[in-house]
Amino acid sequence: MNFEKYFMGKIRSVVDKYGVKGRIAVALSGGKDSMAAFHALTKFKFELIPFYIDLGIEEYSKACMEYAKKICDILGYKLQIIKLKDYGIDLSKARKKCSVCGTAKRYLMNKFAFEHDCDYVATGHNLSDALTFAFNNLASVNILNFRGMKPVLPGNKDLKMAGRFKPLFYLKDDECMEYVKMNEIPYCKEKCPYARDAPTIELKEWIHEMERKRNGIMLNFAKSFEKIEEMMTRQQKIRQCSICGYPSYGNICKFCKLRRKYGKI
Ligand code: AMP
Ligand code: FES
Ligand code: ZN
Repeated sequence: MNFEKYFMGKIRSVVDKYGVKGRIAVALSGGKDSMAAFHALTKFKFELIPFYIDLGIEEYSKACMEYAKKICDILGYKLQIIKLKDYGIDLSKARKKCSVCGTAKRYLMNKFAFEHDCDYVATGHNLSDALTFAFNNLASVNILNFRGMKPVLPGNKDLKMAGRFKPLFYLKDDECMEYVKMNEIPYCKEKCPYARDAPTIELKEWIHEMERKRNGIMLNFAKSFEKIEEMMTRQQKIRQCSICGYPSYGNICKFCKLRRKYGKI
């Protein structure tokens, strides 16, 4: 089987298994994975709405946005842009930058998808990321986070919650890179200046090392984690944030707490 067929087949297996269809908001970071996911999704019968969240991180955010615009030009789409600063949050002033950034991205992705009446928001998370996340959680005895160990999570309109779709869930880092190269997809090679050399980098290397010794072990891990996730009953009930009405695990969602902290509510 040629590589392109193999790659598309892995995405199709997710689409078919979970019956993904309809309107999809595509979260473009400018990096190789989300660009590859977007490119591949244009080959399906979805209605796609690509968007970029401008986190306002110096030159880095500008560079990423240029690449997101570039792929949209190539594929004939208009890029929608969301600015974090419109919500009164300035990452440069935040102490825990990556954690504030993560909360803001998750919130704004969902809000965008919900407001554009999308069934799902698609992200570029791949198999290598998913396993690193899962092993990192195992290593810190935090198995509640296994909630995300699935390529598709359904939405809930009453809770203003869009579905989540990770088309690259069964594809490794190097496979996404190969797809990008084969299709000459432009992508931003810069790294976020706030990213620290997280211990997760070593964890990712360790997972890839195991894969080199035993081909296919990564896919099997992911399938096992997916099954565990399915078996786990939800520990926390999702409700609506009492301030903004979007999904939250508590009375007030994490994003509104952030906005409160930074003085805009
Ligand atoms: P990360 O959280 O940086 O590992 O990125 C995971 C996925 O989230 C990417 O593959 C994108 O789909 C999405 N994403 C990350 N950053 C942005 C951004 N600034 N704007 C839109 N989507 C993003
Ligand atoms: Fe979020 Fe760097 S991309 S802190
Ligand atoms: Zn809220």
